[in-house]
Amino acid sequence: MTLRQFPKDFLWGAATAAYQIEGAWNEDGKGESIWDRFSHSPYRILNGDTGDVTCDHYHRMPEDVLLMKELGLKTYRFSIAWSRVLPEGRGAANEKGLDFYDRLVDNLLAAGIVPNATLYHWDLPQALQDQGGWPNRDSSDWFADYARLMFDRLGDRVAMWATHNEPWVVSFLGHAEGDFAPGIADYSQAFQTAHHLLLAHGKAVQVFRAGSYQGNIGIVLDLQHPQPATSSEADQAACQRRYDVTHGVFLDPLFKGRYPEMLFEWIGPHAPKIHDGDMALINQPIDFLGVNYYMTFVVRFACRGGLLKLALDYASAPNWGRTATEWGINPPGLLATLLNLKENYGNPNIYITENGCAVADVPDANGFVADTGRINYLRAHLLAAHEAVQAGVNLKGYYVWSLMDNFEWAHGLSKRFGLVRVEFETGQRIPKQSALWYRNVIAQNGVQE
Ligand code: FCB
Repeated sequence: MTLRQFPKDFLWGAATAAYQIEGAWNEDGKGESIWDRFSHSPYRILNGDTGDVTCDHYHRMPEDVLLMKELGLKTYRFSIAWSRVLPEGRGAANEKGLDFYDRLVDNLLAAGIVPNATLYHWDLPQALQDQGGWPNRDSSDWFADYARLMFDRLGDRVAMWATHNEPWVVSFLGHAEGDFAPGIADYSQAFQTAHHLLLAHGKAVQVFRAGSYQGNIGIVLDLQHPQPATSSEADQAACQRRYDVTHGVFLDPLFKGRYPEMLFEWIGPHAPKIHDGDMALINQPIDFLGVNYYMTFVVRFACRGGLLKLALDYASAPNWGRTATEWGINPPGLLATLLNLKENYGNPNIYITENGCAVADVPDANGFVADTGRINYLRAHLLAAHEAVQAGVNLKGYYVWSLMDNFEWAHGLSKRFGLVRVEFETGQRIPKQSALWYRNVIAQNGVQE
């Protein structure tokens, strides 16, 4: 067995998001978010689950930071609930909400863990949704003001900031499919949202550069690798449309200052309204790109495939099956994703900000889970990441999704992604075998082939 070691100073971590773990949805002055509204509406979430309590991290934060320390994490990626710090989305700040993130950051630093804060992980304040939400161009200014509030408060201690998490999900699952909050199904609003998320990103980066804050700033994209089903022209063109709508729409403006032209021709009247100067604002240098990778898709032309006329299948790599969310396991897709960024987007600094899987965990009598499936998944993806480093990709760190079992959006509490098991009835935390394995990976700065 060979130990594949990562570069010195490689940052090993785990990730979570506010709505998925915090609970305390209406405590200490927190305002309602679109995910509160969505999960409280009947039949939006499997089994009627909500994030009202979930891991109760809001009350158990010190214990959770100690857990991170025991696992040897060097960094922790979390998100800030906008409606906890600005209950109405703008205007008066909520001191108790700010105080919570202050204490979180201080506890992390005391434990020797680098804080990596995401400003937007999908939970827009409902008050801003009521004013048109992301399709309203003003949203980019609301966001920049919120970003300034957080930079001013935590900017002396947070080493890494991300503006958005997965703008594709917000735009398209939230506004074109309606699967996720705010539950809108309208391609025009979806593309306008994508543009405003990018604009908001650009304005927040501008605010960050203008201040004298510590740390770096970037954005986190979900890049699930698309492959054409066959070499036919129709399938290849369909795959390109898929690439453009998941990758190109965000990567091209961020790194090249333009949108994928062919896609905008294809979608015609759904293309977003863009003002002079927008593209330059979006195309500002960032310090790092966060990549969330979970799966690879096979894409084919489909006569009845909706606006983009395509159909998708999950693609497992040879000898790999599927996860508990049915996602095909495909480690080579991660390598391909990273190489594409190196070759076509100027080899940016990259962190894998999410990677992991849901497993049908079975606890023993003590609540311990021997999750070898998760270990195999993580090991294979880390070996792919290692290959990318050897090929010259500027990969600086890796975060497992997730630190602990939590509220998995439309799947509610039914899908478990954690290194640590959470008993949702009692709040008890029990590290799984994967957590012990990961601790060893971190200690060795590498993974056994
Ligand atoms: C990503 C999300 C994250 C989590 C994982 C499984 O798309 O960013 O919150 O739900 O999927």
